[in-house]
Amino acid sequence: MTISDRTYYTLKRLHSLTGVVPIGLFLLEHFFTNSLAVHGAAAYNRASEDLASLPYVQLLEIFGIGVPILFHMVLGIVIATTGQANAGRHGYARNWMYLLQRVSGLVLVAYIIYHVWSTRLSAEVLRGDTDLFGLMANQLQHPAVFAFYVLGVLAASYHFGNGLFGFAIHWGIATGATAQRRAARLGLAVFLVLSLVGINSLLSFVGRPLRLFERAPETTAAVAGSRP
Ligand code: HEM
Repeated sequence: MTISDRTYYTLKRLHSLTGVVPIGLFLLEHFFTNSLAVHGAAAYNRASEDLASLPYVQLLEIFGIGVPILFHMVLGIVIATTGQANAGRHGYARNWMYLLQRVSGLVLVAYIIYHVWSTRLSAEVLRGDTDLFGLMANQLQHPAVFAFYVLGVLAASYHFGNGLFGFAIHWGIATGATAQRRAARLGLAVFLVLSLVGINSLLSFVGRPLRLFERAPETTAAVAGSRP
């Protein structure tokens, strides 16, 4: 089947847009919620239960997240496996960044399928078990699963960070060379910050969080002394 240039252009635009809204926004929310694992099982499970009790949550899951991801994923597979190599059009570094964009997208296909199957569609969650911290902690005890999650976090962080750079170019937000350099730096910063936050969440589930940016816990005496 062949499609017109106009339809192809519209699909590419929609592909680009869905990568940021809603998928990118969901990714940020998901990383933030999971980073509550740093505070332990009770805080994490409370936040997960709050999210699960939102009104219309299943409709949101299906139409706000599931359908856009499926659309982006299917079109992404077509682009990643049939697209031109992009050679010669941009600098050397940019070609590598674009290659990694496609490779990280393909890694994410496997990762997202495994992640959704082993969490949202797991027997535990389907029968209403609310100890999601315990579920993740159990799975991440296995070194191979932990390594696969690290790969997934790095792929999602890079794909979204570098994707923001592509988005800024495709939507005419970064047109000149300086603006494009800034967009590339922003993308790199998003990649690094999300990678750190995501890997720290994984470490928290196995009881080894990094305490880099946390205030020292207050002692009982200090807390008691501050009361009127
Ligand atoms: C965590 C989920 C994902 C997020 C947040 C995301 C986000 C993005 C963003 C923001 C872009 C940049 C759009 C642009 O350049 O204008 C993009 C591009 C792309 N995505 Fe995704 N994506 C995700 C999953 C996937 C998956 C599973 C695939 C499957 C292969 C995929 C394949 C692609 C491809 C091939 C491009 C480059 C399109 C091009 O420039 O021609 N993405 N994505």
